[in-house]
Amino acid sequence: GVFSKLPPCYEHIPVHDFGNALILPGMSDLHLHAPQYAFRGVWMDQEVVDWLNTYTFPHESKYSDLQYAERAYRIFAEDLKNSLTTRACIFGTIHSESTQLLMELLDKTGIKTFVGRVSTDRNAPDCLIEESAAASYKSSLNFLNSTLSAYKNCKPILTPRCTFFCSDQMMEDTRRLMLEYGLPLQSHLSENPRRLKQLKKLYPNETCDGEAYDRFGLFGTDCPVVMAHCVHSPEQEINLMAKHNLYVAHCPESNLNLSSGIAPVRRIMSAGIKTGLGSDIAAGARLSMLYIMGLAIQVSKMYWRYVDTQCAPLTVEEVFYMATLGGGGFFGQVGSFIPGYDFDAVALSDDAIRSPIEFTPKERLERMLYLHENARLLAKCVAGQEIPLSI
Ligand code: GUN
Ligand code: FE
Repeated sequence: GVFSKLPPCYEHIPVHDFGNALILPGMSDLHLHAPQYAFRGVWMDQEVVDWLNTYTFPHESKYSDLQYAERAYRIFAEDLKNSLTTRACIFGTIHSESTQLLMELLDKTGIKTFVGRVSTDRNAPDCLIEESAAASYKSSLNFLNSTLSAYKNCKPILTPRCTFFCSDQMMEDTRRLMLEYGLPLQSHLSENPRRLKQLKKLYPNETCDGEAYDRFGLFGTDCPVVMAHCVHSPEQEINLMAKHNLYVAHCPESNLNLSSGIAPVRRIMSAGIKTGLGSDIAAGARLSMLYIMGLAIQVSKMYWRYVDTQCAPLTVEEVFYMATLGGGGFFGQVGSFIPGYDFDAVALSDDAIRSPIEFTPKERLERMLYLHENARLLAKCVAGQEIPLSI
């Protein structure tokens, strides 16, 4: 709860006064790739299809080496711990051992995460695809049995990389696992025009990427699903997502860096679809959810100006909602200080943004979106537990 005076029933608990800092609900990053964090900020000169083949797959193949994985994932887990993020949906790689190591490291941070061992059995280099769909199913079973209840804060999530990289058999097996284990699912949807042309050949009878997932029962009918991007989602895909209660992870920095386009977020949200934000590391270079909130506003202004004047730009309130309650819903009662919700919170100082003007709390939040590098994280709590920061 929010109280001006501590109620007597709480008198025994320790109290920390954060003075003039803003205390906000913790933030959810609905889409990021842990193995790609090592190359954040470089290799941004291709669209997604070539970017994956040229840079991403060769690098992800390194995670067959557990020692390399440990070096890279330690850095990732430490930086995520010290970020504003309190919940996240994270892709690993196809490698079970290093993905399990990632889960171990993330679990220790205290942040609550879903982590996926990525399923891929076609259209990628040999070292990054399963021998067969049957072999993949077996590895998935082993991975799920070792990780399902091994950790307090980190849980597995089904992670078919996207329709292009998964055979029909793999999609059917993924549904079997979904039903057997009651697991949520994360994937990519309608990200890039060239990819959509390739998909048209693979799925001639489906009118959109979403219909392909839906054909395999992986589009939100039975378990929670979060789809990243939806930049080129046609009307029927948006309607299908709304009907099946999907979550969309809007990743504005990724969409800019890989020239994917600007997602029609206003149309997606107006259709009633639950929408959060994602960094999509390393197509997005930064973990900062403040930065991503600001960017979501900026790209929505370009969409309104250049693409559709009916789609009003996003407001500060809307992107704040997306980063907190919007994405938080994927994790349960998360993303707000309303009674009954988990206490996920960040205390942020904006003392470094000097000005003689007395701003309101909302204006101070808005400044932090545009001047995110000047906002200093003082403390972070996840589900009532304080995370010891090393900054
Ligand atoms: N589509 C399939 N894999 C990926 C990935 O790693 N990043 C992005 N941005 N899109 C993808
Ligand atoms: Fe992604």
